[in-house]
Amino acid sequence: MQRPLETFTQWFDEAKAHDGIKEPTAMSLATATPEGMPSNRIVLLKHFDADGFCFYTNHTSRKSAEIKTNSMAALCFYWMPLDKQIRIEGRVEKVQDHEADSYFASRMRTSQIGAWASLQSQPLDSRETFEARIAQMEAKYEGQPIPRPPHWHGWRVIAHSIEFWVQRDYRLHDRWVWHCNSKGVWEQSLLYP
Ligand SMILES: Cc1cc2nc3c(=O)[nH]c(=O)nc-3n(C[C@H](O)[C@H](O)[C@H](O)COP(=O)(O)O)c2cc1C
Repeated sequence: MQRPLETFTQWFDEAKAHDGIKEPTAMSLATATPEGMPSNRIVLLKHFDADGFCFYTNHTSRKSAEIKTNSMAALCFYWMPLDKQIRIEGRVEKVQDHEADSYFASRMRTSQIGAWASLQSQPLDSRETFEARIAQMEAKYEGQPIPRPPHWHGWRVIAHSIEFWVQRDYRLHDRWVWHCNSKGVWEQSLLYP
């Protein structure tokens, strides 16, 4: 993935350096049921390399339930001030436990408590119930380091295609896509805008 990764890294660095982009790591994540019913939402890219693009979430969530039964997913970044979009498609795998432990340990304590208290995407009868769970977890871990909850983990999207899009005047945009062929070699082609 050397060449698409180089372009991804360069654009991502530009987005991170841009004052007008509040959440450069925000990306849409599309998943689907085995029957093909799609859903999407925003998550944050926490790390990436030639092995894939990683985000963290709760394994009780809808996205995780869909990934467990249909491992194909798509990511999309749009950085409006840069006039650039990147689409990534691929298979999803769980990150290694040690990677999840290490990222969890770097989070703010309140976010760590939140990960224990939230049964993400499950029905909630009232805000008070959630706040009571937060208070219960704060009491439980008072004065101690907070371990990663077993239901909180990361997913890695292992790209098989990456498309780059740059806005140009009169909608005559530039688009090019990289596909990983059956031999694992990345091949580039242009697309009409
Ligand atoms: C800017 C932004 C960043 C977010 N980052 C994450 C994230 O990294 N992980 C996550 O689980 N949810 C994140 N969310 C919340 C998700 O969009 C979503 O509401 C939640 O994960 C439940 O989705 P699901 O029911 O489809 O699983 C973020 C939302 C926004 C708006």
